[in-house]
Amino acid sequence: MTTAHAHPNIALVKYWGKQEKPGNLPATPNLSISLAGLTTVTHVSDAPSDTFILNSKETSDPKLVRWLEALRGTFDVPPLQIDSGNDFPTSAGLASSASGFAALITAINAHCDLGLNQEMCSEWARVGSASAARSIFGGFVALVPPQWQAIPMAKRDHWPLEVVVAVTSNEPKSVNSGEGMERSRLTSPYYNAWVRDATTDFAAASEAIERRDFLSLAAVAELNCLKMHSIMLTSQPTLSYWTPASIACMDRVRSLREEGHDVFFTVDAGPQIKAVCLPASADAVASALSETPGVLEVIRSSLGEGARVVL
Ligand code: DP6
Repeated sequence: MTTAHAHPNIALVKYWGKQEKPGNLPATPNLSISLAGLTTVTHVSDAPSDTFILNSKETSDPKLVRWLEALRGTFDVPPLQIDSGNDFPTSAGLASSASGFAALITAINAHCDLGLNQEMCSEWARVGSASAARSIFGGFVALVPPQWQAIPMAKRDHWPLEVVVAVTSNEPKSVNSGEGMERSRLTSPYYNAWVRDATTDFAAASEAIERRDFLSLAAVAELNCLKMHSIMLTSQPTLSYWTPASIACMDRVRSLREEGHDVFFTVDAGPQIKAVCLPASADAVASALSETPGVLEVIRSSLGEGARVVL
């Protein structure tokens, strides 16, 4: 048996929309930070036939089946038991597919001696779920053309940001990211503007990270997040991932900033709010969000490392 760990990542410049060619390629450059406080643990072992256990329950997952088929088109991979568990809500906008595919390719690579380096692991993780390409690496990570393998931008100690996740629902999302982003591409009247602006947002965020300029990163990350939710909301039928508590948390983050705290929010395809802050503000942010009506739980995290084999 081989075990791998991986962390979810949250995008500060988001991926929402794919290119119209094979390989699960994002339409736009995107970048993320890795979350040490949330972990996927995946065990891979030989088995008479493929079995998939998620959070201790045997399950079937067409995305995983297709991915294994693609992997077996290139490598000799025997039937496997895959037993994967998350210590955070699954399929609820906390990037469980990102850490899931990153942990999985890392474990299979070691278990079956595929001989992949990190860049190749990132490419295979991307085929499963594009955001998973980023979870192969720790710290600040970009997913950019022309290779569309993730690239580490800066180590986590370059800028030890903290993240407070406000969980407002544990329900799995009703429309998954892949289906949702295709709907946005086909129906949102603002999709082309989203794609057009992405390169500028990516450049501004990269520069802010390089210079550790919190206010500039806050401005571009919040705006980029709200642009993505604007194309979600203007998709037909609409994609509305927020709860009233999500909106209350965003308002609270804005008021914390007015009170002088270094904090900004970002939200993915789900109702959870991720408040990214400087360490000096983390206690105040965590206590303010835990007191916000509708918040079920607050998870605190520093920046994490990349996917790795542990046993
Ligand atoms: C909103 O990577 O889950 O979290 O490639 O279809 O599996 P697939 O999509 P996925 O989408 C992530 C969307 C996002 C933004 C992001 O992480 O960049």
